[in-house]
Amino acid sequence: MTTLLATRVMPADVDSAAEAARILAAGGLVAFPTETVYGLGADATNGQAVARLYDAKGRPAFNPLIAHVLDLQAAKKLGRFDADAERLAAAFWPGPLTLVLHRAAGCPVAELATAGLDTIAVRVPSHLVARNILKAFGKPVVAPSANRSGHVSPTTAAHVLADLGGRIDLIVDGGATPVGIESTIVACLGAPALLRPGGLPRAAIEQALQQKLSDAPAAGGGDDDAPIAPGLLAAHYAPRTRLRLAIRRVEPGEALLAFGPVPAANAQAAKTALNLSARGDLIEAAANLFSHLRALDGAGAPAIAVMPVPADGLGEAINDRLARAAAGDR
Ligand code: TXA
Ligand code: MG
Repeated sequence: MTTLLATRVMPADVDSAAEAARILAAGGLVAFPTETVYGLGADATNGQAVARLYDAKGRPAFNPLIAHVLDLQAAKKLGRFDADAERLAAAFWPGPLTLVLHRAAGCPVAELATAGLDTIAVRVPSHLVARNILKAFGKPVVAPSANRSGHVSPTTAAHVLADLGGRIDLIVDGGATPVGIESTIVACLGAPALLRPGGLPRAAIEQALQQKLSDAPAAGGGDDDAPIAPGLLAAHYAPRTRLRLAIRRVEPGEALLAFGPVPAANAQAAKTALNLSARGDLIEAAANLFSHLRALDGAGAPAIAVMPVPADGLGEAINDRLARAAAGDR
């Protein structure tokens, strides 16, 4: 259950940038304007902060998030740029363009923020308020549009307050956002593909690249919070090892993905075990989900036995991802 917070609203100035950075560093949630729409920001490197962000948006789904950074140099620590990506960054950053790239080696962004994928969405915003916050914080900030899941993206601080008041720590009010629709998303993972039309027109991108963009059919019927193009990109993380869900008894030699207290017999039977949250905290469990699955997938066990996870709060999204991983659904 999301606990009720006292959401503060501050006008955008030097003080609010410093206060935003302080809250982000403490794992809190800050909404701020970008040139496209208001984003709900969290420290991209802090898995628990990212889990809290999904929780605040409601109907949690662990869709991969966009990492926001100040410049190309910072972006290159997160994703690998091919020649097309270099060209697009040079032409349109800072601005309303998001690039989906292969994750760079040593990328510090939490696995939960990229939903366990090997790709990452990166954007360099041009809005001064967003840039001042990124400058003050000094680390990448993940920011989905600052609306409840299923609602439209907010273009004023009042929209954000109406949707997320009581669920986030701070709203920095920088007036109405100039572009008003989300960034255009282009995947540079091979032939460049348009994943989401947005604030930067396709024609401008094709002009800069001197080639046509291929189209990735968007999944989810226009819901901007739905994962994009599951056929084209791996939309869900899937381990190679078979998963057994909601187990009561661990078979000898299995890897164990635990939640809460582990019965002694199961601890003994397991070849290796990791606990999503020994104290049964769903926020902590979400933060650990993809990294624990990955680690256990590498343990060489015949199967990963997964203890039951309750379905309330973030548990709904955790169970959804576990079910997809068990079904080998990509
Ligand atoms: O203008 C914007 O892009 C705003 C501002 C706040 O920056 N942000 C925004 O974020 O619209 P969000 O989370 O509402 O939409 C991001 C979209 C989602 O549809 C997500 O599935 C997709 O980007 N996405 C993120 N990472 C991806 C990846 N690695 N591969 C494919 N799609 C990805
Ligand atoms: Mg959105």
